[in-house]
Amino acid sequence: MKRVITYGTFDLLHYGHINLLRRAKECGDYLIVALSTDEFNSLKGKKSYFDFQKRKMLLESIRYVDLVIEERSWEQKREDIKLYQVDTLVMGDDWIGKFDDLKDIVEVKYVSRTPEVSTTKIKSELKEEIKI
Ligand code: CTP
Repeated sequence: MKRVITYGTFDLLHYGHINLLRRAKECGDYLIVALSTDEFNSLKGKKSYFDFQKRKMLLESIRYVDLVIEERSWEQKREDIKLYQVDTLVMGDDWIGKFDDLKDIVEVKYVSRTPEVSTTKIKSELKEEIKI
């Protein structure tokens, strides 16, 4: 059984997220999503619209996702990879090169992002529409 892990906030789940999750699952048999907690998001200077429990529930209802765990820090990846016996780390190519230091313990793959959609873009475009 080949295990894959990916990390992210996945707020206001959109088709770019689904594409990423599908591609990640295609890299193996079992997909773990390490989902940023609300506390970790505030550390990153981000505030999600949906809180952790709601984002987790949404991810758990997706067929490609087998397990959702908490992402609480930047440094936990090595520990997660060992604990969950992960074979492949998959990230969108906005992170290209950023996790290459983990290549000594895991295969690292960057998959292309879906163009023209992001949570930030959805939020700002809706805000503009409301103004009009
Ligand atoms: N992702 C993607 N294609 C998109 C948007 C996101 O492949 N159009 C991927 C990211 O590369 C990442 C994962 O989805 O691996 C989770 O990204 P996240 O930052 O939660 O989503 P964004 O929509 O990019 O959110 P934000 O605008 O807040 O950064």
